[in-house]
Amino acid sequence: SHKQLNAELLSVKSPKESLVEDGFEKDGNESTVSITVVGASGDLAKKKIFPALFALYYEDCLPKHFTIYGYARSKMTDAELRNMVSRTLTCRIDKRENCNEKMEQFLKRCFYHSGQYDSQEHFAVLDKKLKEQEGGRTSNRLFYLSIPPNIFIDAVKCASLSASSGNGWTRVIVEKPFGRDSESSAALTKSLKQYLTEDQIFRIDHYLGKELVENLSVLRFSNLIFEPLWSRQYIRNVQLIFSEDFGTEGRGGYFDHYGIIRDIMQNHLLQILALFAMETPVSLDAEDIRNEKVKVLRSMRPLQLEDVVIGQYKSHTRGGVTYPAYTDDKTVPVGSLTPTFAAAALFIDNARWDGVPFLMKAGKALHNKGAEIRVQFRHVPGNLYNRNFGTDLDRATNELVIRVQPDEAIYLKINNKVPGLGMKLDRSNLNLHYAARYSKEIPDAYERLLLDAIEGERRLFIRSDELDAAWSLFTPVLKELEEKKIIPEYYPYGSRGPVGAHYLAARYNVRWG
Ligand code: NDP
Ligand code: BG6
Repeated sequence: SHKQLNAELLSVKSPKESLVEDGFEKDGNESTVSITVVGASGDLAKKKIFPALFALYYEDCLPKHFTIYGYARSKMTDAELRNMVSRTLTCRIDKRENCNEKMEQFLKRCFYHSGQYDSQEHFAVLDKKLKEQEGGRTSNRLFYLSIPPNIFIDAVKCASLSASSGNGWTRVIVEKPFGRDSESSAALTKSLKQYLTEDQIFRIDHYLGKELVENLSVLRFSNLIFEPLWSRQYIRNVQLIFSEDFGTEGRGGYFDHYGIIRDIMQNHLLQILALFAMETPVSLDAEDIRNEKVKVLRSMRPLQLEDVVIGQYKSHTRGGVTYPAYTDDKTVPVGSLTPTFAAAALFIDNARWDGVPFLMKAGKALHNKGAEIRVQFRHVPGNLYNRNFGTDLDRATNELVIRVQPDEAIYLKINNKVPGLGMKLDRSNLNLHYAARYSKEIPDAYERLLLDAIEGERRLFIRSDELDAAWSLFTPVLKELEEKKIIPEYYPYGSRGPVGAHYLAARYNVRWG
């Protein structure tokens, strides 16, 4: 609730306390939470979901009574699942004490059930096993669909018909991709809604669980100095940049069907943009925030073909090592035109942002790894000090950088006098460097999101109208790129990406930060 969020903002209450208040441990009939990881044998389950659940357990954030079930087709015993899971669990740096003991306790609460995703009978057996663990308490059930999208509906159908809770809540976390265009996404939503209400569906975008993305609203709305500047009047352009220094190795089959625009831009970067650009919500309530995000998305112009540059990485040899081309992956079709890089210019046609370019850039196999938001401000009108910067006036503008990862930071580039007798200026950073300022380790995005789903907090999950609005912006251009078979600009593995991205930015008078 609103109150709860405010209290959390002020750190009044620990997550554990709020669980108690939310009715998990009322009246002698203590409730339980059963978490079923559907697709437990897979990559995401191993890499992210089980470690996040353990971290929550370690931090005392899970309710007293909980059970975790892995569900997949692979044959595995409970012991084998525990063994698999134990290899990816880590303890936080903060307090490593009792780590092994905690792990053992946690693993004892993990079980495995092997079944088909489209078998109601198999889910009915799971239901029976869950009931045994729940021991007659009020049962709340969370299903995490960590499976490929073509089996989402089967699994949702069987879970909801055969294994939903009889007396508590049932919620389902759905992983992306939520379709691959407006039509398929609408069809997915329609099918999900045959079995679940919108309230039960938790569409995850893990970027919303990242610390600095969550902090965006705090930065804007709880500091007097930013919000008045947050408009076309002072902001020249906004850049949303994602890069990885590795290719699609091992995930080529999935990736080729989607490409970088669907994989990163339509969801992760667009979500950041919506949070960045939305009007002040009425409250911190999930619906109020999501209402504002939808409004921004619906004020945007669908992306135009001339405002997109696409690229694909090619093989490159450096220091005697040969890095593969995207199409060297055996799971990628020969001659695939799927973009592994894209740059795009987007516009919000409302009073606040009229004419301000929002530039996105996302790519795999680039020279570095990171995600950041860069806000470039306008020139100071009639700046007394312009001549101290020579001809490169661009250098004299302020820039606010929010570095989402790695090495989280928020810094503001300001003009400053170089100490000394002369009058020389330089650009320095007012720097909030998280590692220097906060000693506590930053939780993984999946921890926050899982905890929110357990608590029924929907603020960081994607509502279906948001999803529709997001697809409307990208679907026409995706179709055009595919129909016209636009050839991507090839860039060497480990490079800065296609030079076309610079021409695109230059058309709007922007220089990438
Ligand atoms: P996997 O390909 O590892 O699949 C998960 C499990 O699903 C597998 O272990 C397998 O279990 C089962 N499965 C796989 N293919 C099929 C199939 N064709 N038919 C039936 N069952 C199948 O996926 P990930 O763990 O990588 O991802 C899970 C979900 O999360 C996907 O929707 C993905 O798009 C999304 N995602 C993944 C990310 C990642 O980093 N991996 C990042 C963001 C989203 P079994 O054979 O035992 O039944
Ligand atoms: C996923 C994409 O959603 O995000 C991957 O499908 C990408 O392609 C990943 O690698 C990046 O997430 P993170 O948290 O590592 O930046």
